[in-house]
This record gives sequence, C-alpha cells and structure tokens, in this order.
Amino acid sequence: MKIFVIGGGAREHALVWKIKQSPLVEKIWCAPGNPGIAQLAECVDIAADDIPALLKFAKEQAIDLTVPGPEAPLVKGLADEFEAHGLSVFGPSMDAAELEGSKSFAKYFMDKYKIPTADCIVFQDYDEALEYVRQADYPCVVKADGLAAGKGVVVAHSVQEAEEALQRMMVSKEFGEAGGKVVIEEFLEGEEVSVFAVSDGDNFVMLVPAQDHKAVYDNDEGPNTGGMGAYAPAPLMNRDLLKSVKREIVEPSIRGMSLENRPYIGVLYVGLMITPKGAKVLEYNCRFGDPETQVVLPLLASDLVDLMQKAVTRQIIDYQVELRKKWALTVVVASGGYPGTYETGKKISGLDEINDPDIIVFHSGTKMSDEGVVTSGGRVISVTALHEDLRTAREKVYATVQKITFDGAHYRKDIGYKAFRHLR
Ligand code: AMP
Ligand code: GLY
Repeated sequence: MKIFVIGGGAREHALVWKIKQSPLVEKIWCAPGNPGIAQLAECVDIAADDIPALLKFAKEQAIDLTVPGPEAPLVKGLADEFEAHGLSVFGPSMDAAELEGSKSFAKYFMDKYKIPTADCIVFQDYDEALEYVRQADYPCVVKADGLAAGKGVVVAHSVQEAEEALQRMMVSKEFGEAGGKVVIEEFLEGEEVSVFAVSDGDNFVMLVPAQDHKAVYDNDEGPNTGGMGAYAPAPLMNRDLLKSVKREIVEPSIRGMSLENRPYIGVLYVGLMITPKGAKVLEYNCRFGDPETQVVLPLLASDLVDLMQKAVTRQIIDYQVELRKKWALTVVVASGGYPGTYETGKKISGLDEINDPDIIVFHSGTKMSDEGVVTSGGRVISVTALHEDLRTAREKVYATVQKITFDGAHYRKDIGYKAFRHLR
C-alpha cells in the first residue's frame, strides 16, 4: 500500500515509524514531515492544512490510505474532500470531527447520550456570559468553542480571571471565530488520563490508556503546554475503571455518533478526569495525542496499517488488538521559553550517539540546515523508552535526554511520577 501521513510533529514521526513496520506497506510519504521522518519516508513540502494541494498530491500518487495527524485538516473537511475523489482516509468526516471542532456540539452530544461530563452553560452573548461569571462558583472553566491550538481553555480561580478570559475570547477575538461562543463549565477535581479508541463507525478497539503531563514545569506547575511527556499504560486505569469507561463513555460515544448520522471513523481520543464520582469527559479529540502517540504506538503489537484499513472498510468487529506487555515513557525536550516565545535555529547535538535498542527518538520542531539538525519549534524532540520495568524505562529516557543538547533546551524531570504513586 501507498500511505500518506499528514503533519510534521513527533506524533506523525511515531505514526510513520509504526506504519513502516507493516509488511503491507510499499511506500510512505509525509507532508510536510521533518528531518526525523525523512529517514523513514519521503517528505513532501505541503502544509498540513492545505487540503487542495494534499488532495492533488494524493491523486497523483494514487495513495491507498491517507493518515492525518492533526485536527485542523479533519475539522476543515479533509476526509470528505478526499473521499469525494475516491481516496480512503483514516480519520473522521467534518461532521464527526465536530466532536473536537466545537465544544458546544460535544457538550450537547454528551448530554443527549448521557455521557458523564462537567455541567456547563454555553454563551454566545458577551454580556450574558459576564453576568454569569459574576455569580458563578470558583474555580470554573472557560472554554472557547472552536479550535484554539490547545490555548482556548482557562481554569479561572476568580471573577477577575473569568472576565479576562471572556474579554480575550469574545471581545479581542484572540482565537478568531473559535471564541464567538464560549462554554463555561464546572471545575472537575481528579487525575487526568487519555484513552484512544480506533473505530469503524460502529465497532471499536481500545489502545493503551496513557497519561500526559501538560504543565511546563515539574510537579505540574506553570502554564499548560501541548504536553511535556507521557507514559503508558496508565495504572490509574485499572481493569474495572477501563471496563466502565468503555461501557459508559466510549461505547455510547461511538453509538451516539452513528445515531446522529455522523459515523466516527478513525481514532477517537477521549480526555478523561477520574473524579471521586467516576470518569468524566474533559474533551474529545478527533486524532491521536501528542505526546501520547509516542508511547501508545510503541506498545501496539498489532499491525497499525491493517488496523486502520479495517477501520476504513468497517471491519473492526471481532478484531483482536494485540498490545505489548511493557511500559513506555516519553520525555519532550523543548526550546527555552516554550510555551511562551522562544528562539529557533539552535544546533542540536548528540542525536547520532543514541544506540540503545530500547530507545526511540522522535522529532517535532527540528529542521535541516547547513550546520545539521537545528531547532524550529517549541517542542523539539520526544525521547521514548520501552521496558518491562517503568523505572528502567524512565532511567533510560533521562540518560538519553542528557545526551541530546541544544542552547536553551528544557524538559520536565518528573515524567511518570503519578504512575509510581499508583504502583506503590
Ligand atoms: P481541554 O482542551 O478541554 O481538555 O482542556 C485542557 C485542560 O484544561 C485539560 O487537560 C484539563 O487540565 C483542564 N480542564 C479542562 N476542563 C476542565 C474541567 N472541567 N475541570 C478541570 N480542569 C479542566
Ligand atoms: N497531549 C494533548 C493533545 O494531544 O491534545
């Protein structure tokens, strides 16, 4: 098969790495890719959300399966556009991707299908939202309705913080149209975990649950980022909890979307808060997570291409997914200043010195220059280790991370700490 992966981050590097292992694959292209991906696939210089150019390329190469990494092209209708031209896409239609593209739709949907989530109110009018936050209980959570590259959620601890968030979203239009509507919801207390279902529209299989580390500093301090590290499986998701999440959250989500005539095909990422009253949905994403994919795919023993092909041809029923009985842990090395402003073009050293078979280095914000590989983004590299023992996996990751250096590099030193708490 000819496979076309869309995106250029560590998530897409992990997708290409896993796809490359499939005997079904003849060739992989990736747009736009990165220098790490270029070692495994042919990179094509097309932006991940340039749907007409992606479509033209896929038609020219007679691509058998397109695998979009990020949400933006899916929410903009990439799958519909490709399918109208007879091209298969492992990813949801525009209508199904609305689960991520519109938080108010996701909330309406969860209410209709009795899927546990935080209570909320949706506002389109700034004055009404303002009036509401002036008498709300705190903390509360203010969310821009549409896509905001992970920056559209504010946990407000006071009226002032909530007013500021409303001002930025609804008046200054910091996220454009995405902030025209806001969802204000109840603050949930608990521990977060990410689960991933691969669905063919009616049936699904689950991959390993993972835990992300969103805050930039150790101990979950500082502002939120796209994710500074992850590990899997998450021991918090014990057998009983996993069963109830499947039954009360994933299954009704897939069934509900089918009943809504928006069958969900692709990977559904459900962000959960495990509260004292059970699991509740924080958000749906219509794609794989980053950095979760860097631990979830190395733990998948099944052939990913076969699994994706079964999903797009609606043959997931009876599919037995095989998972590796190991731990995976990944640490993201970021540019100095990230998630705020940062400089790029810093030379990265040490990439060639890694020769531990348990280690995989995934690139995200890197590019090739005359000096070799240099930084080009906020999150630069993800280092993953696989091992039978989580402590050893963590030691191996940190030993490797210390060898990969660039000016200003920073990373969290405590990835996985919650797992050790559960394992003790
Ligand atoms: P979201 O993009 O909706 O997942 O929100 C981003 C992050 O904000 C989540 O990963 C949580 O850390 C936090 N968050 C979102 N909604 C809530 C909530 N209702 N209660 C507590 N924290 C939340
Ligand atoms: N790791 C969070 C996300 O992919 O949205």
